[in-house]
Amino acid sequence: MIRPLTFFLFFYLFIISSPAISSSVSVTYSPKTLVESGDLVNIQWNGVETPTESDWLGIYSPPNSSNNSYIGYVFLSSCNKWRTGSCSIDLPLVNLRSKYEFRIFRWRDDDETGKKKVDPDHNPVPGTKHMLAKSEGELGLETGRGPEQIHLALTDHEDEMRVMFITEDGKENYVKYGGDENAMNKAVNTFVSRYEREDMCDAPANHSTGWRDPGFIRQKLEITQKVLLQGWSDTHSFMSRAKNSDETYAILFGDMGTATPYSTFHTTQDESVSTMKWILRDIEAQGDKPIFISHIGDIGYARGYSWVWDTFFTQIEPVASKVPYHVCIGNHEYNWPLQPWKPDWANMYGKDGGGESPATRNLFYSFDSGVVHFVYLSTETNFLPGGDQYNFIKHDLETVNRTKTPFVVVQGHRPMYTTSDEYRDVPLRSRMLEHYEPLFVKNKVTLAVWGHVHRYERFCPLKNFTCGEEDEALPVHIVIGMGGHDWQTLWTPRPSQTTYPIFPQPERSLFRTGEFGYTRLFATKEKLTLTFIGNHDGEPHDMVEILASSKILRRAEESSNKSEVENGYLSWFISHGRRVATSGGAPVKTNDV
Ligand SMILES: *[C@@H]1O[C@H](CO)[C@@H](O)[C@H](O)[C@H]1NC(C)=O
Ligand SMILES: *[C@@H]1O[C@H](CO)[C@@H](O)[C@H](O)[C@H]1NC(C)=O
Ligand SMILES: *[C@@H]1O[C@H](CO)[C@@H](O)[C@H](O)[C@H]1NC(C)=O
Ligand SMILES: *[C@@H]1O[C@H](CO)[C@@H](O)[C@H](O)[C@H]1NC(C)=O
Ligand SMILES: *[C@@H]1O[C@H](CO)[C@@H](O)[C@H](O)[C@H]1NC(C)=O
Ligand SMILES: *[C@@H]1O[C@H](CO)[C@@H](O)[C@H](O)[C@H]1NC(C)=O
Ligand SMILES: [Fe+2]
Repeated sequence: MIRPLTFFLFFYLFIISSPAISSSVSVTYSPKTLVESGDLVNIQWNGVETPTESDWLGIYSPPNSSNNSYIGYVFLSSCNKWRTGSCSIDLPLVNLRSKYEFRIFRWRDDDETGKKKVDPDHNPVPGTKHMLAKSEGELGLETGRGPEQIHLALTDHEDEMRVMFITEDGKENYVKYGGDENAMNKAVNTFVSRYEREDMCDAPANHSTGWRDPGFIRQKLEITQKVLLQGWSDTHSFMSRAKNSDETYAILFGDMGTATPYSTFHTTQDESVSTMKWILRDIEAQGDKPIFISHIGDIGYARGYSWVWDTFFTQIEPVASKVPYHVCIGNHEYNWPLQPWKPDWANMYGKDGGGESPATRNLFYSFDSGVVHFVYLSTETNFLPGGDQYNFIKHDLETVNRTKTPFVVVQGHRPMYTTSDEYRDVPLRSRMLEHYEPLFVKNKVTLAVWGHVHRYERFCPLKNFTCGEEDEALPVHIVIGMGGHDWQTLWTPRPSQTTYPIFPQPERSLFRTGEFGYTRLFATKEKLTLTFIGNHDGEPHDMVEILASSKILRRAEESSNKSEVENGYLSWFISHGRRVATSGGAPVKTNDV
């Protein structure tokens, strides 16, 4: 048996002689507690000797996570004065319902993995063999602050709104509401649900790297009319759906994603911050007009890393707590190797869902909003004739009351028409064209909008790749996957993607651009207008107007008329909104490829 003193000395010598531990390095942070998601923590390190460009800071939550189960990392060299061995950074962190810890590592060439280990997007996955320091204590968020990640959705009943949010525990929980902030005199209990690790179908979603406790998802239905909601602290308000309204406002885009303040196991989408910023501006300018969001697939791109979903819902909350946020299912919400729908002819499925459970509810649905009938379809699950989805869509399109809703807008993730290099989707596209184009044409669908290709591209009214005549009332197809995800083969090469070929723009493609952004839809009984807003300046850069008679008022050639675009833009804010936009329209580019 070793006597206590001997043991102490032995232990001490072991520590100071270990090459992996540099006792002089420290990492501290302040404050010790964050008030709410998105608050900044300042992380400071000192005493890093002979700093290298591969020294990095790991962000851990919960604090007992193993070294390689970080949720994200930042290279110390991203800090200005990193060469001095001391520097500090500010990181906005979200509530993951458990505390945070920070560790500093040196990623050395002699690591087992070398410097070659990369994630699926070719970003480095830094090694954790040589820890230099870890933070003392644990960074928490104030407890008892109430609901987070609030988001709204329409239901099947026109006078209902679904209110959803996350809480840390599963205790009984109420929503207070009323028609006036001073008369919040109704309270309702919430439904609570959650999912478990075993519910995930594959790695990384069911693995210790990707899995984190999801908290408790709560929802409340049947909240009617104009209400104010009260959680434990903040009060929120929304506009209920206007029954029999003769106007429609919506914001549509696909493929937006999430911005994380650190690198994680795949690339995240910084551009999504601008998309949300301009959309919030538009919603605020709408005043008390009802409006809703359509995010047509590839939603948060969490890809099996659960904290990315928390970040996504925190990021959309300013918008989604004010207006209903509706979605289509995209490949990143579905695909995994054992997915149930995987026909032989389709070779385009991979691991895009990151092992998250494929959604099985609300894969296809429709609702009326004002003068427009909106249809949501799933390009990821069985859409062939004979299946439930096909039957639903066919019946739905055939029974639209065009007196009530003169316009029909169909939305789905993978496009029926695109001029980009999505060659792997050709078999799916040809089947969509074969089975759905006849339905769209026969039932005079006004607009068909798609995502997946991360670009904006507007086509002429189409049938079988050919532009129709004005009186044919053919559907206008528009690709609106420019919500924020950066990766896309381009029509023209750009510095980061020099090897891709140039795709010529055929006649049927009237306008296409590589700008990020979103589209605004505004419709009256007479006319539907869809406007593309670019994130780089928040201004309109393309628009199409379609009369209830299906006549296309403006095509790309004509929308180069600046004053016309301004009128379209201003009609959104002046004639129909409460506040006046601070700036007018910008010239429309007709040849931006
Ligand atoms: C961390 O702690 C929690 C709760 O104490 C425990 O359930 C979990 O297994 C621990 N994780 C690791 C990696 O030790
Ligand atoms: C992380 O690695 C260091 C050595 O680099 C080790 O001392 C420490 O115990 C590890 N931490 C965890 C939680 O595994
Ligand atoms: C994750 O799912 C895969 C596929 O179902 C399974 O083989 C694996 O054991 C699961 N891993 C964990 C940690 O549950
Ligand atoms: C169609 O909508 C109009 C206007 O809302 C309504 O008057 C009419 O009854 C509806 N028709 C049917 C068949 O529901
Ligand atoms: C579509 O057009 C091609 C030629 O452009 C023709 O061969 C084909 O039969 C057409 N398909 C339909 C369904 O009309
Ligand atoms: C542009 O629009 C204005 C207002 O609608 C119209 O008066 C003018 O003729 C148009 N110019 C062209 C070149 O189409
Ligand atoms: Fe996508």
